[in-house]
Amino acid sequence: MHSENVATRRGDAAMVADVQAGLVDRAPGVQRELPPKYFYDHRGSQLFEAITRLPEYYLTRTERLLLSTRMPEWMGVLRPGALVELGAGNADKTRTILDAMRAARDDVVYVPVDVSAAFLDETAENLRREYPGLRVEPVVADFAAGLRLPHGLPRPILYAFLGSTIGNLEDSEATELLAQLRRGMARGDRLLLGADLLKDVAVIEAAYNDTRGVTAEFNRNMLRVLNHELGANFDSTAFAHRAFFSERAGRIEMHLVALEDQLVTIPGVGRLMVPAGDSIRTEISNKYTPTRLTRILAAAGLRPVTWETDDAGGYALLLAAPSA
Ligand code: SAH
Ligand code: AVI
Repeated sequence: MHSENVATRRGDAAMVADVQAGLVDRAPGVQRELPPKYFYDHRGSQLFEAITRLPEYYLTRTERLLLSTRMPEWMGVLRPGALVELGAGNADKTRTILDAMRAARDDVVYVPVDVSAAFLDETAENLRREYPGLRVEPVVADFAAGLRLPHGLPRPILYAFLGSTIGNLEDSEATELLAQLRRGMARGDRLLLGADLLKDVAVIEAAYNDTRGVTAEFNRNMLRVLNHELGANFDSTAFAHRAFFSERAGRIEMHLVALEDQLVTIPGVGRLMVPAGDSIRTEISNKYTPTRLTRILAAAGLRPVTWETDDAGGYALLLAAPSA
């Protein structure tokens, strides 16, 4: 690796640091990896949206079903004034929550938080059009970097972390994120969490290896993001999509495997060699047992107050409260 003092294009210092740490400063034999937040430029967000409509990707439709059956009752009791959603995306399922919240009171504020800036703007515009009078205050931010929320949100606040996006974090990171949320919560505030559970491995693996290749395109999009944002010259077509379930870790791992030796230049970082057959891990997606999930919540100072799964017991939607 040679260092290069080339100014980066649009990429910020944090991205350069992540790429440096994940791809370059690796001891021999340590897996190269990049944070999954770098999938999500506008195209990446659209590709994820396409994934949610795939027959193999059971997560979204299962969570939508749970939301539509539970929200009227849960929101009727809680009557939240604000909904703060981490990783909101297109907020498609969120409409079910907003409908139930607005049936209970009329001063509701929605705060979608996401790294995908252009997509977030679109989401906010669509919601303002669909819900006249709804205050929408989007926040473009990395949810792990400390949330700065608008002042004066009507309480109680409902924090939502849906789609099993929690699964894209290591358990220690998930605990830290939830603990940070917990620190900002008043006694009456709640967390609404959607999480994918351990199930038949064939079903899980099919969800990340769809026959149409949409997940493969989503995976390769990360290299396109690095090209656009940092001016890198990855050939995304020279990397194969690989997704497999790790029994040991209880998670899907998504990798991009170099089909031939790849020599890549990344301005601001330097030159990177990925030998044929080596991979970059782009995502983990944990599949929880209820015990594992409860342990993460407890370590963050939260306790589940209501818990719902689909009939097959494959996906959980729960409401958690501060434990003390
Ligand atoms: N909640 C939606 C979207 C899930 S996809 C659903 O359930 O379908 C994950 C979303 O989280 C994407 O919109 C992505 O842009 C966002 N995201 C991923 N990592 C993030 C981070 N570190 N900070 C903020 N948003 C993030
Ligand atoms: C956003 N996240 C919960 C998705 C998941 O299932 O881990 C991202 C994804 N990766 C591949 N397909 C979908």
